[in-house]
Amino acid sequence: MESSTMLITGASSGIGMETVRYFARRGWKVAATMRNTSKAGKLVNIPGVAIYRLDVTQPHNVEETINKAWNDMKGIDVIVNNAGYGAIGILEGANDEQIIRQMDTNFFGTLRVIRNVLPLMRKRGRGTIINLSSIAGRMGLPLYSLYHSSKYAVEGFTESLYYEARPFNIKVRLIEPGPIRTEFNGRSKDEIIPPDDERYIAISQKVSHFYNATFKYAAEPKVVASTIFRAANSKGNRLRYPAGFQSHMLLFFYRITPLPVFRLITRWLINI
Ligand SMILES: NC(=O)c1ccc[n+]([C@@H]2O[C@H](COP(=O)([O-])OP(=O)(O)OC[C@H]3O[C@@H](n4cnc5c(N)ncnc54)[C@H](OP(=O)(O)O)[C@@H]3O)[C@@H](O)[C@H]2O)c1
Repeated sequence: MESSTMLITGASSGIGMETVRYFARRGWKVAATMRNTSKAGKLVNIPGVAIYRLDVTQPHNVEETINKAWNDMKGIDVIVNNAGYGAIGILEGANDEQIIRQMDTNFFGTLRVIRNVLPLMRKRGRGTIINLSSIAGRMGLPLYSLYHSSKYAVEGFTESLYYEARPFNIKVRLIEPGPIRTEFNGRSKDEIIPPDDERYIAISQKVSHFYNATFKYAAEPKVVASTIFRAANSKGNRLRYPAGFQSHMLLFFYRITPLPVFRLITRWLINI
């Protein structure tokens, strides 16, 4: 029997790298893409894994790599849009470059990949598109306004895409992790410097302290990899897949709590 095939973006670390290993161990052929292939590290020489260069912000590179991987693997069953970046902090302190990069990586990058793979999946009559969202695509938390914008965009886009993809037997999924122990904070998080106002500086420090403290309870990337695998193999049309205990708990709490109460509790917890 032919192996199933998957292409993932941002496979040089964290959830992306773990997902490549998870699928490969289960017999899938995987196109592990990353913007700098010298970072492939542990993925080199894994049977069934091929490394490709793909920077989601470069339209020609996206087109070229999708077509190459499609031809090499004789079709792609599942696409995972995982590449991510976070400009975190007070909006007034953000510059244009950070704002544009936020949407360019997390949202426009996802659209670029999907626009290139959709016609191929449509002609083939099947496929699954999996987009990495976050609990940050479902609720607004302090100092994440730019990151939230990108993940809310991914959520709304994916929810709508269902209707036009369905007639061609193309499934769409959203993965919604809570805090996950990856290098995101070190390598993909861009800390926005707060403007010189003591109230902004105080909020920034308290929020940052709170997030650092809660991150001690972050889940392992394998939890997300296994959720992606479940979403990839599911035959139904389920859209949202929270990943990890923390995500389930927070989404449940957010759903049952009136927003004014949620805000009050959030401000009380962080002391802002
Ligand atoms: N960690 C969490 O708590 C958490 C929670 C919810 C959702 N998520 C989402 O999960 C996804 C993966 O994040 P992670 O936690 O695994 O963080 P990570 O280890 O920092 O991984 C982010 C990946 O995205 C890649 N990337 C950044 N810009 C790119 C571009 N222009 N083109 C291609 N790849 C690019 C990075 O590549 P380089 O190595 O080249 O920088 C890196 O491999 C993201 O979408 C993130 O928003 C994370």
